[in-house]
Amino acid sequence: MSLFDRLVVWTIPFVPKPLMRHVASNYIAGETIADAMRAVKDLNERGCCATLDVLGEFITKNEEAEAAVDEYLKLLDAIQAEQLDANVSVKLTMLGLKLDLDFCLQNVRKLVQRAKELNTFVRIDMEDSSCTTDTLGIYSKIRKEFDDVGFVIQAYMRRSLNDIQQQAADHKHVNVRVCKGIYVESRDIAYKDMAIVNANFNWLVEELLKNGNYVGVATHDEKLVWATYKLIHDLKLPKDKFEFQMLLGVDEQLRDLIVKDGYKLRIYVPYGQRWYEYSTRRLKENPRIATYVLKSWLGLS
Ligand code: FDA
Repeated sequence: MSLFDRLVVWTIPFVPKPLMRHVASNYIAGETIADAMRAVKDLNERGCCATLDVLGEFITKNEEAEAAVDEYLKLLDAIQAEQLDANVSVKLTMLGLKLDLDFCLQNVRKLVQRAKELNTFVRIDMEDSSCTTDTLGIYSKIRKEFDDVGFVIQAYMRRSLNDIQQQAADHKHVNVRVCKGIYVESRDIAYKDMAIVNANFNWLVEELLKNGNYVGVATHDEKLVWATYKLIHDLKLPKDKFEFQMLLGVDEQLRDLIVKDGYKLRIYVPYGQRWYEYSTRRLKENPRIATYVLKSWLGLS
């Protein structure tokens, strides 16, 4: 961690909560399902679809996982009731991944079953490397029962190419979000050189698309968006084989350009009461985000 990053981590507890709320409000839809519905409606009107994420992870009690399942079930019903173009994204630690794998599997099954009934989809987010194997294991079991579920692969992980090849071989075709990866991992398991992470991102997208899988290209890095445009052109891919994905409140100009080019774009919309814990922990985990947020807040990017 650089000196600047250490400084960022050190100052986080001193940032006044109202200021944190102000900054977070650009990236988080609010605290309630109603707030989330409003944000998605606005995005749908701008030509974007959405994926909704209930904030919260690393729970310690089964009841917390059950409460999360209830919230997600209500959320799926609300999406249906409001007729919005959205699905959901879920972190498995919030559904009990670190408590009991069978319990977590049952919780995921409840969500995917409901999503199937409502003709929508559940994306399983990827968390830090201590979760990778178990997350893919649960995905794989659920995918044998349902088509309406996808996972996330992180381009910084050295294992990722093997993981997508394995999953694609096991399930004929898979629906994968490709992202760079947000957690701080050690060099023995993750690429540290951003040029390699970017090249690996493009490689993973190509490997998946060439083999008939559906890809969510999740990035705000215009070089990677451009590389996907070129790949789509070279492979003569129809538009229903991929989508672009971005986080709420990040580079809205790029978002609008992608929509204008006629591509499907999905915005990741987090909401929930635990926005403060989520924001501060994320900043501590990866101070690079704090620099992005600060620059964008000051109008420097
Ligand atoms: P890069 O980090 O190079 O950023 C490119 C530019 O985008 C920056 O220069 C900056 O201007 C802007 N930017 C990026 N992130 C920003 C932010 N948070 N705030 C303000 N500006 C920002 N990770 C993971 O490990 N597991 C997961 O499940 C997911 N899920 C996910 C879903 C979606 C829809 C997206 C877009 C991203 C994720 N991620 C994720 C996060 C991902 O791994 C990655 O950390 C971020 O997207 C940033 O990487 P970029 O590809 O945007 O490139």
